[in-house]
Amino acid sequence: MSIAEEAPVSAERGSPGSAMRAYVKRTLPDISPILVCNRAPSEPRPEGGFKRGAGGVITALLTLAEATEADWVACARNEEERQIAATQGAAVTVPLLNSTGRLHYATPTKEQYELYYGVFANPVLWFIQHYLWDLGNEPVIDDRIHQAWEEGYIEVNRLMAEKVIEVARAAPSRPLVMVHDYQLYLVPRLVRTALPSAMIQHFVHVPWPTPQYWKVLPKQMRDAILEGLLGCDVVGFQSSLDVRNFLLTCEENAGLQVDERERAVFYGGRVVYARHYPISIDVSTTARLAGSRGVKRQERELASWRPQKLIARIDRTDPSKNIVRGFIAYDKLLRYHPELRGQVQFWAFLQPSRQDVAVYSRYLRQIRQIVGRINSDFGTETWQPVRLEIGESERKAVASLKNYDVLLVNPVYDGLNLVVKEGALVNATNGVIVLSENAGAHEELHDFVLSINPFDVEATAAALYVGLMMGAVEKRRLNEGAREVVRANDITRWISRQVQDLRDLVMSPVRT
Ligand code: G6P
Repeated sequence: MSIAEEAPVSAERGSPGSAMRAYVKRTLPDISPILVCNRAPSEPRPEGGFKRGAGGVITALLTLAEATEADWVACARNEEERQIAATQGAAVTVPLLNSTGRLHYATPTKEQYELYYGVFANPVLWFIQHYLWDLGNEPVIDDRIHQAWEEGYIEVNRLMAEKVIEVARAAPSRPLVMVHDYQLYLVPRLVRTALPSAMIQHFVHVPWPTPQYWKVLPKQMRDAILEGLLGCDVVGFQSSLDVRNFLLTCEENAGLQVDERERAVFYGGRVVYARHYPISIDVSTTARLAGSRGVKRQERELASWRPQKLIARIDRTDPSKNIVRGFIAYDKLLRYHPELRGQVQFWAFLQPSRQDVAVYSRYLRQIRQIVGRINSDFGTETWQPVRLEIGESERKAVASLKNYDVLLVNPVYDGLNLVVKEGALVNATNGVIVLSENAGAHEELHDFVLSINPFDVEATAAALYVGLMMGAVEKRRLNEGAREVVRANDITRWISRQVQDLRDLVMSPVRT
């Protein structure tokens, strides 16, 4: 039976809920799932209670946690979370999407967390995995980075693994440990050593670069990262290119035996499989949100200033998102097509990100500078070329996605990019998506978008123009095609494909 036939849920049939839970239980009986992620599903509000953890990845993991009924292990990242961990004992009950979950905190010190998060994971690893270094000059791997590796990254990964092991030992059945993202590469090996029969999976949300680019990292670091991941049974990636790069990295950088056809690495007498599962959105929840009163209110507000032609972007203020080059391209559009002045507006709704990391706060300043420059070069008394809003509001973001004429998604590199899938699903104005060929989502959506090289600002300006001028028939074709791809591959499929692989490859491997 194919996955699509077997999985219980499709976008048309409503939210994952109990059907998905029953499917997971049936497919993987007698397991105790544990989800491991740097961030918790909910974060304490200063005034008391909890709010949803930030970012699209957390939203996807909330669905995963509900579908598998997993315990969640996260890092206590700040004083409030350390307080809760210290006072509330073993497991904290926190809200998920439609239910509550059990959260277990690992509690590094403030210093350890800063070294791990602010010096090593972001920027060193994030910058490597998005090819962001200006290699002629950076990175300079000095004592600070060595210290961040030793006293931050290794230590926090060790504390997280210890917490996972504690939760797994108390669990009633065989643990299924699902680790997420680049902050936690060392966890699988540590868990494997303590619990040899655990099922362990790691999902890498960000791109996996080429073996050469990994060599930016000193050997002991990149080897430890690979060995950490090779504690898994299955390593999941966003795209088939990431899988190929991973296999090649194991072969080239670590001299391991790899089977490309089986997409498997042989390591320490075990087989580790690499598979790609492009992450997605919960189609019915997103559609419901798009029709909600809160979003409609935001749309009314938008209608009060909407230009004739609206270009939109929604992003975290991250250098990988390529926001500045997006504005350079827009500047060119206004120069080459003066007839658009006064008619078009670029609405950038940006969420401030990682502002305690210097390179990120500098990037936000660069964004403000170029917007200021464009607005003063072209703006008139009645027309502002760029509307820059820095803030966080899911409703406002969805209102913008429902109403764009062109959505610009031009990351330098991106693991997947969920904004583009949200846009494809909810847009109600036959808008056109301009998409970087280096976003993981491009693998699925390339037939229904205007593809660009994100470094080529001339091509980006031209694509913005083509998108704004496109005829209704072609726009509808792109729109319907993109929406169908998202509907057919929603978050339930992301989950069910992983669950099925765990059953077929690990729990009861099919021998050929
Ligand atoms: C990306 C990463 C996630 C991360 C998120 C937000 O999507 O892949 O692992 O959680 O950004 O970043 P932050 O550093 O704020 O958790």
